[in-house]
Amino acid sequence: MAAFSFAVLISGNGSNLQAMIDAIEKENISGKICCVLSDKENAYGLKRASRAKIPIEVVSNKDFETREDFDTELVKVLSTYKPDLIVLAGFMRILSPKFINAFTEKILNIHPSLLPKYPGLNTHERVLESSDKIHGITVHFVDESLDGGPICAQSSIQINTSSVKELEEEIHKLEYELYPKVVSWFGEGLLKLSNGKVYFENSELKIGGIDEN
Ligand code: GAR
Repeated sequence: MAAFSFAVLISGNGSNLQAMIDAIEKENISGKICCVLSDKENAYGLKRASRAKIPIEVVSNKDFETREDFDTELVKVLSTYKPDLIVLAGFMRILSPKFINAFTEKILNIHPSLLPKYPGLNTHERVLESSDKIHGITVHFVDESLDGGPICAQSSIQINTSSVKELEEEIHKLEYELYPKVVSWFGEGLLKLSNGKVYFENSELKIGGIDEN
């Protein structure tokens, strides 16, 4: 059987991509990144990919009139690599059914909040404004909604700061721990999505997925 291979989609810094590259290097993920695709040609994550000798692709939505046309091109480009999994890591576009259906049950996303709380942008600011006591991250399979789809795993922290920057740093640390783990579970066949339900070692996960705390 061919080794587990996954594509990583980014729009910016790519620090979660770096966590995946490091996890492969340390053999915490058994597999390889077949390509890194960005919708922004100046995304710093592309440099990280090149440094790790991973093929890179840039597909800009500005070159397409509709979301469907953009997604058709994404599917075309990614399909040439035959990925077993699509890993969204700070890819800031909502994907259409065209894309979701091309990679059914094989798309993961990470989001910096305890979904279903705070989908969308500026999650750290919104958490602080709401005086929440805990904050965290979610890894989920992707459907057509904004930061939506069945949850695989979450990890949380107590909030002990009023600084967005500090909170973001703490949240990033959680992300770098959890996301490579979830990807490796998928690669090993431990984690899967089937008919809208998430299974871990063949047992269905209930709301909230695996709690890493
Ligand atoms: C991460 O914090 C990720 O959770 C978030 O973007 C950041 C990307 O950072 N994703 C979302 O907000 C998705 N809605 P990175 O480019 O350094 O990995």
